[in-house]
Formats: sequence, C-alpha cells, structure tokens
Amino acid sequence: MSDDTVELEARLEEQEAFEPPEEFVEQANVSDASIYEEFEENWPECWEQAADLLTWEEEYDAVLDDSDAPFYEWFTDGKLNASANCLDRHLDDRGDEVAIDWIGEKGETRTYTYGDLHREVNEFAAALRELGVEEDDVVTMYMPMIPELPVAMLACARIGAPHSVVFAGFSAEALATRMESADSEYLVTCDGYYRRGDLLKHKEKTDEGLAQVGHDVSDVVVVDRGGDEYDHDLADNEHDYGDLVAEQEGAEVEPVTRDAEDMLFLMYTSGTTGEPKGVKHTTGGYLSYVSWTSQAVLDIKPDDTYWCSADIGWITGHSYIVYGPLALGTTSVMYEGTPDYPERDRLWEIVEEYGVDIFYTAPTAIRAFMKWGTEYPDGHDLSSLRLLGTVGEPINPRAWKWYYKHIGDESCPIVDTWWQTETGGMMVTTLPGVGTMKPGSAGPPLPGIDAKIVDTKGDEVEAGRAGYLTVNKPWPGMLRTVYKNDDRYISEYWEEYSDSDADEWVYFPEDGAKIDDDGYITVLGRVDDVLNVSGHRLGTMEIESAIVGVEGVAEAAVVGGNHPVKGEAVYAYVITEEGQGEDDAMRDRIVAGVEDAIGPIARPEQVVFTPELPKTRSGKIMRRLLEDIANEEELGDTSTLRNPDVVADIQAKVGDD
Ligand code: WT7
Repeated sequence: MSDDTVELEARLEEQEAFEPPEEFVEQANVSDASIYEEFEENWPECWEQAADLLTWEEEYDAVLDDSDAPFYEWFTDGKLNASANCLDRHLDDRGDEVAIDWIGEKGETRTYTYGDLHREVNEFAAALRELGVEEDDVVTMYMPMIPELPVAMLACARIGAPHSVVFAGFSAEALATRMESADSEYLVTCDGYYRRGDLLKHKEKTDEGLAQVGHDVSDVVVVDRGGDEYDHDLADNEHDYGDLVAEQEGAEVEPVTRDAEDMLFLMYTSGTTGEPKGVKHTTGGYLSYVSWTSQAVLDIKPDDTYWCSADIGWITGHSYIVYGPLALGTTSVMYEGTPDYPERDRLWEIVEEYGVDIFYTAPTAIRAFMKWGTEYPDGHDLSSLRLLGTVGEPINPRAWKWYYKHIGDESCPIVDTWWQTETGGMMVTTLPGVGTMKPGSAGPPLPGIDAKIVDTKGDEVEAGRAGYLTVNKPWPGMLRTVYKNDDRYISEYWEEYSDSDADEWVYFPEDGAKIDDDGYITVLGRVDDVLNVSGHRLGTMEIESAIVGVEGVAEAAVVGGNHPVKGEAVYAYVITEEGQGEDDAMRDRIVAGVEDAIGPIARPEQVVFTPELPKTRSGKIMRRLLEDIANEEELGDTSTLRNPDVVADIQAKVGDD
C-alpha cells in the first residue's frame, strides 16, 4: 500500500460521520431537511405525497381511517390497480424504455421494455383467467429470479388475484404449508434454474410439495427454463407457460378496479412460533409507500439504471425490485445467479456493463466481498454508481466503510435501511440527500414515522442505552393483518406496548435498538426467537421442530451463533433418544431434516450432541446461555440452573468442532 492509501485507511477508520456529497445533494429527489417538520406538522395528510405518486381511478375519501385501530385503513375508498400503475401509465412516454434488464447466470440476457412487459403481463393475465383464476383467489408462485416471476405477479395484480411468492430456495414442505395456509389452488413455478453452473431440478421439488398439499390444486403453470437440458412431464392439470402465453398472443385484459384496502399480496415470514405468518399487504397503502420510499430514499428517477440484488422471493424484492421501481418507471437490472459465478467480480462486471446508478444489497454480501478482496471491484469501472444501499441486518462500521470506499469510491451516499416484511417498506434510514451518515447506525426514522426506543415498561430510554424499537403511529405500507388470523396480528405486534383501553396503539417489531443524541437509531437485532442468517429471517421454533421430527432425536434447542459472513449461523443442540448414535450419520440426518422442512438456508452450522439442555428450575431452556456458548463468550452465573453441570460439557463439545 502506498503512504496515501495508508493515510486514507486510517482517516476512514476514525471518521464517524459522513456528509452526502454536494454533487449528489444537487440532484437528489429530496434535499431539504424541512421535510421532517413538514411531515410531522401535517400528519397523516403528509402521506398524500405518497399517494400522489400513483394514478388513481377514483380519489380516496380519507388518508387514514383509524376508527378500528390497530386495523388501520389508508386512502379509504380510493380505487386503483397496481399493474396499471407499474405498466400502463408508462406506455405513452416510456413504452420503449427498458423496464427489466435480465441477466441469466449462464450469461444470456433478456430485455423487457415497458411495452414488452405490458404485453406479456396482459397475455399471462388472460391465461390465468382462462384457467379459472378469479378476483381474490390466491395464486402461489414458487420461482427463482427469472422474468416470468415479476410478470406473474403483475398479471395477478391486474386481475385482482393476490399473489403469495414462496422463495425458490425453500423446501417442498415449506411450499405445501404456505399453499395450504392460503387455500391457494393455483401455482406458477418453473422446471429448473441455474446455480453456480448447475441446473437445479426445481420441478421435482415442486412435485414433492404438491403431493403434500391437503386440498386440490386446480392448475400448475410451469415455466420452461431448463430447455433441452431438462425434460419433464406435465400432468393433466399442468401447463407450459410458453404455450399459455402464445395462445393469448395480443390479448388485452382490462385492469380490475381494486379498492385501496384490497389485498395485493401475501408474504409468509417467520415468527416466534412454529407456523409462518401470512403478512397481508394492500393495494393503495403499500404501493404508495414503496413508491414514495423508492423515490425519497433510493433516489430513483425514471432515467436511472437501478439494481437491487435481493431475491424477489423476499419482501425486499417485492417492494424494491418489482413494485416501487416499476411504479416509478425506472430501468431495473435483475440477475439470476450468485455473486461469485463464474468469478467473484460478477456483480461489478454487471455494474460496469449496464452503467448501474443505484445499487442496493445486504450486509452479508458486503462482508463476503470484503473477504474476497478489493481486486474484484478494483478491476471494474464503477463510476456510474451514485447511491448505495443496504438492508436486512445491522451493518458493522468496518463493512460500511469498505462499501463506501471500495464500491462507492467515497462519492456515493449509503442508505442503511431498517424495515421488515411487515412494514412493507423502509422505516429508519437517512435520506441520502439530506442526512449525515453514521456508519453502523441506520439513521433517524423517515419523515412521518414515529419510532421510539423504550424499556420493558414502554418508557423512553436515554440516548445510548439499549431498549426496544417501537413505532407509535401507523404508516401506509404497514401490514393489515396476519392472513386469516386477526388475533395473531394483535398478539404478535400490538399487545406488548399498546394501551388498548386508551386506544393508544404501539407497533412492536421485536427488534432491540438504541438511539443517540441526534435521534439516530442503531438496530441491535431481534429480541424474539428469530435468527437472521445472511439477512434471511428464520424462526428457531421452525428449525427445532424440523430437528425433533428426525427419527432418533428426543429434544433440540436452536440458537444463533455469530458468523463473520452470515451474521448469524444456526447452532443446534440436540439430545438423541436412548441407544441412538451421536455420530456423523445422525448429524447428516439432522441437517437433511432441516433442509427438507425449510430449505438449505436453515442448515445448521453446528450440531452439538448433548445429554441434557441447560434448564432453569422451572424447566425453561436457557437459550441465552446456549448462545453465549456458541459464541464462546464468558458465561454469567449458572448456579441457578437445574443442571449446572451440563454447561461445561456442552462448552467442551462446541470448542471441539
Ligand atoms: C428484520 C426483518 C427488510 C427486508 C429484509 C428483511 C432486520 C432489516 C435492518 C437494518 C439492522 C435490520 C431486523 C428486522 N433488519 N434491516 N438495516 N439494520 N437490522 O426482512 O425478513 O422481515 O426481517 O431484519 O431484525 O426485524 P425480514
């Protein structure tokens, strides 16, 4: 390293605050700090600004109806269609502009202009109708990052059929439980897709899943991604996507008029209990909110080339690959594969080739880039980049600074955006054209978002002290309920801190956080039994029940251990039944059991066999202690345990592995 570089590194290491570059501020969609005050003084009418980004068929009567809180309604009686907002309204001015630039892992590309996307969405919407899909029928999608996924989502939106996208990496069983929970009778899937050069036989997994669905599935649409590489049969109720679309060539489907509060989609996510929750998002509030945050936080303009590297199977992809960017009429890059195939510079090659302006990714990816080394980004011209973003988990200052320097060349602001599946869109982050950035801290709540850090009694904690993050006013992108389970909606999110007698409702996202004197929030992580593995949310109970389902396992406890790239990794402590081997074969069966029940993302990093689990005198498993053991941290007082002797035993085993 030259002296200059050393000096630069040293300066960056100490620097705690970064101002947005002048050049960025000058062109930013939002650059005036008065927006915070303006939103506060004019709440909830401030959210008209978000609704104004959309085209409404009928104006709404009220911005917010809180008469049945916490079952809030936004933009009541407004009418609109999400697909018309993402497609039709752009046709006149931007029909020939690129909506999606798709890149397959093998290097093939497909370009969809807004006109192309509109055409295919119409054709597929007509096909879905012909299969019998009616307004309000839930259509499940089990698809990887291929263009037919956003096409199918928008086709559903067009005919008013809510979609439920299941991440393609989830297991057959996970698909089946989600289809059952949503009473979904239609599935759109594909035969296969590519990962590190190999064709994954997705259709086989789909078939396994379908065999486990307890009700009749009326139709399955299969996209042919594998081509000649993968021959598969289609059953009587299965249809080839290409044939269906070809049969509908040139079809036009009038977008169905949806009420603002009509469901746009369901997204299943993990919670404290074993059952994933179906988070319900609506047409008016959600679409307004993701459009507004795409504009204000991601600074998206129609002429930009924007790239969010998330998978559409998660909420980040729904909000910030599909709905927000398309509603704003921008050009998005969509990439099928992994960042290190064929080489570790794949993403930077794409940024250079497509002239990407805005790049949004996850801290886990940034930590992997850091590990691989600077030669990969250094080999490419990344000067098209204007703004960088991260989402999904806390980003440590070192990774933030690496991203700032080696990807952004110290000339791009970084937005560290805190939000959740349930919030629909971003909630806590700096506005890139307004706020000072502090690495490691997401920033202040967005304008109009009333977030506070409180103690267990709900009283605000002092600056610098850890507490619980709460949101004290509703916002348009919020979930409306847990699908078919209003009680769970209340108990999961509202019961903890609300005073229902006083009709005061406080949303609890189940994250720990602290705030500084400038009102910047640092999110510390989940406080419930949910792990964040590579930015993916996994319930410990789901993993435990998968392990206990393995023959020969008596009991299991799952906790998160620190991991340098993944953030958290799954540690499983397992008690086997009498006479069962505690060997590699058993370990393999446990890992396979978890992969079958959930998917490879939940695969345990370590399986530790133990004769007992540390328990309190009342019989509760001491998870905190297991976590400390996984992280090889000093253990506090263990004398109150019912079985203190077991601790040293387990510690020795974790060290061994
Ligand atoms: C959980 C939500 C939001 C889309 C991807 C994940 C954690 C998210 C941040 C951030 C610290 C973060 C929280 C949250 N999280 N963003 N910028 N800093 N933590 O969505 O699967 O619903 O998970 O991810 O713990 O509760 P999700």
